[in-house]
Amino acid sequence: MLYLLDTANITEIKKAYDLYPIAGVTTNPTIIAKEKSDFLAKVLEIRSLIGEQAMLHVQALGRTSEQIVAEADYLRQKVGGNLYVKVPVIPEGIKAMKLLKQNGIKLTATAIFTPQQALMAAVAGADFVAPYVNRLDNVCGDGTSVVGEIVQLFELYGLPSKVLAASFKSVEQVHKVSLYGGHAITASPDIIEQLLKHPLTDTSVEQFIRDWEGVYGAGKVISNI
Ligand code: G3P
Repeated sequence: MLYLLDTANITEIKKAYDLYPIAGVTTNPTIIAKEKSDFLAKVLEIRSLIGEQAMLHVQALGRTSEQIVAEADYLRQKVGGNLYVKVPVIPEGIKAMKLLKQNGIKLTATAIFTPQQALMAAVAGADFVAPYVNRLDNVCGDGTSVVGEIVQLFELYGLPSKVLAASFKSVEQVHKVSLYGGHAITASPDIIEQLLKHPLTDTSVEQFIRDWEGVYGAGKVISNI
């Protein structure tokens, strides 16, 4: 399982990177716009913070394959590093994926709501496909089952594409995606933080410290007794 952060907020990225095993950052136009800053400066700031090796997924906005290809070239030149260009699974997006794959650009097919969209994107050359779990759940769909079916299809056809599940609002959604064998998730830092939360963990840790400090003294840890 790879954990990615679905945010362009520098403070949030710094905090989550410090604590958790984060493989990279995903953005989309909404996430970038939320920061209300210069687009390229923001993306470069993220790149410089996470390093050249970390995955950085940045979305193209073009409505035609020509525009999407031009955006991908721009991003490759200006951002570089381990970059994935996100392309929505509209027909022109699929056409752009075929062209970009030939040019060696790494691709994340996005705005995916059905297994067949994911399958076609994978055949067109997407390295990752990003199904939106919570947005499906919100309209009485079953987002995690869609992830499961995509994983199944990729295995069935021996496709090398990976599932980067996105759009989460609960730990349960992340849990089901992992049970289905989703390869990666991207979520907001608060969801990543929630994955570790359990009141019994907190009370257990507090009890350990109370028992230890009762004998070895307040503030003492193994390295300073
Ligand atoms: O990357 C896609 C993701 O950001 C969508 O998440 O929470 O807006 O449904 P959400």
